[in-house]
Order: sequence, then C-alpha cells, then structure tokens
Amino acid sequence: MKRDFVAVTDFSEAEIRETLKLAIDIKKKPHHLDVLAGKTVACIFHKPSLRTRVSFEVGIQQLGGHSLYITKDEFDLGVRETIHDAAKVLSRYIQMLMIRTFSHQSVVELAHYADFPVINGLTDLSHPCQIMADIQTIIEHKGKIDGMKIAYLGDGNNIANSWLEAAARLPFDLRIGTSKETPPDQKILDEAIKAGKSKILVTDDPAKAVVNADVIYTDVWASMGQKHLAEQKARLLADFQVNAKLLHKADADVIVMHCLPANRGQEITDEVIDGPHSVVFDQAENRLHAQKAIMIKLARESF
Ligand code: CP
Ligand code: NVA
Repeated sequence: MKRDFVAVTDFSEAEIRETLKLAIDIKKKPHHLDVLAGKTVACIFHKPSLRTRVSFEVGIQQLGGHSLYITKDEFDLGVRETIHDAAKVLSRYIQMLMIRTFSHQSVVELAHYADFPVINGLTDLSHPCQIMADIQTIIEHKGKIDGMKIAYLGDGNNIANSWLEAAARLPFDLRIGTSKETPPDQKILDEAIKAGKSKILVTDDPAKAVVNADVIYTDVWASMGQKHLAEQKARLLADFQVNAKLLHKADADVIVMHCLPANRGQEITDEVIDGPHSVVFDQAENRLHAQKAIMIKLARESF
C-alpha cells in the first residue's frame, strides 16, 4: 500500500523514531541507497523555496532517482482540470511527488487520488519535513527529543502547527508563545492535547514560554502569501522577538533554531542568529538527510 507524508501524524511514533534514526545514520555514513533508481519524483512549487527545492532535488539524485520540476502551467491543483484527473494522469508517469502550495486540503485530496506517495513540502497549514529535520537537529545537539523543553515564539503558523503534530506523537514539553490574535490551528492544537503525549502550553507571555527552555525556535512573522499582513503581525508579535535578553531566561545551553529564511532584526536579532547558541545551518543541512530518510521509507513501503 502506498504511503504519504502530508502531516507528521501520518507516521506513528515508532515510524518517526525509525525515520529519524535512518536520517542520522545516513548523515554519518552516506551509503549509497538506490531506492529511487529508475524512478521519477515530481517536485512542484507554488511558493518560492531555496532549502526545500535544493535539498529535495539533491536528495532524489543521491538516492539514484530523477527529479522532475513541474510548473503551475502543468499542474495547478484544480484550475485547468480536477485534482482527481491530474492525479490519475500523473500516476501513469511518476513514482513519487513533493509539493509546496497554499491549500493543505488540496494536497490531502491529491494524496487521496494519487497512486504514488505524496510529500508535503509546505502548505499554509503545515511543514512536516522541516520539523523532522528539526527534531533530528535537536537529537544531534541534545542527545534526545524526549522530555525536551521546546519554546516556539512568534506566529502561530505552519511551523507551529507541525510542532504540535510532532507533540501528538513524541513526548516533550512544547510551549508556544504567541499573541492572542495569532494562535496556531485550533483543531491541530486540540488533537495534540487530546493525544496526551506531550505537555503543551500556549501562552501570550514570552517569558513563560522560554523559562528553562532547552530549545528556542522562531520563524518569520508573516509567512509566504501573508506579506500584506506584515505590519499587523509586526505590531502583534513585537514582544516575541528572540533576542539576547530573552535568551537569558532559557537554559544556559539552550539551542536557538529558525527554519529560515529569516527576517533578521524582526523575529530574531543578528547577535542571536549569528551567536554561539544558534544551530540554524545544521537545521538547514538536516533537511537533506531527513527528507532522504522519509523518501526511503515511503519508497520501501510503496513500490
Ligand atoms: N525552511 C524552508 O522550507 O526553506 P525554503 O522556503 O527556502 O524551502
Ligand atoms: N512560515 C514560513 C515558513 C518558511 C519555510 C512560511 O510559510 O513562509
């Protein structure tokens, strides 16, 4: 049966752990795994990308596969033809697909009709590949994810939502510091709380979120497709900037994370992102390893 990775919760706890272990192993010993030999992986971007585009294309190549960049002219999720019809056509040509787009529901629908595995490379709702790479980074720096105090500060966006989905599967202490007007997705939050795996706090007090934190994480305040809200978000989130003063409230060995691209001087200061606690480029590197592990798992179970 073909598998998808549209949300972190598409994998069980055991599958997430197994995939992260594989990602860490691949990074240490980049052995040749030709699981994608003779296969074509389509890559679709309806929003800009540096990390996701390059890490997927390089990863596909390293796994022996061929990546095929498809533009919006060919595949537009339901405008030129229905998602159903496009999915059925693509199923006759390709063996896997990675998509970055706006509507999460469209990706769910695509995965439903496609005979091939579908990977979410970011939607307005979530960014699961990013969070897998981030957890890998935390394990590498802190030795574990279990029990870690993770403070996410800023907009309640796709990154915050994927952290909540991770918290529904793995046991850690997630604090989301955001304004009352910029909360994460209510349904995802409710499901994460209901899962009962992690300790979850959503607070509008940044100090409460970061107290004794092992990890401080932030992201841009206005995501792709929301740039018209930039001024409003900047006003609402001004108190949630990750700066040196805030870092003092966290654990002395805190690591600072940002999925990038960063809006330096807004959600994070130069001295923090360039400082000794920052692991942002390890995170970026781990996109490659984590996504290779995800593709290997999907290929092994689907082909
Ligand atoms: N972090 C991330 O997904 O970066 P890109 O938008 O450059 O792909
Ligand atoms: N929240 C950001 C993440 C970018 C990787 C966005 O959606 O633009």
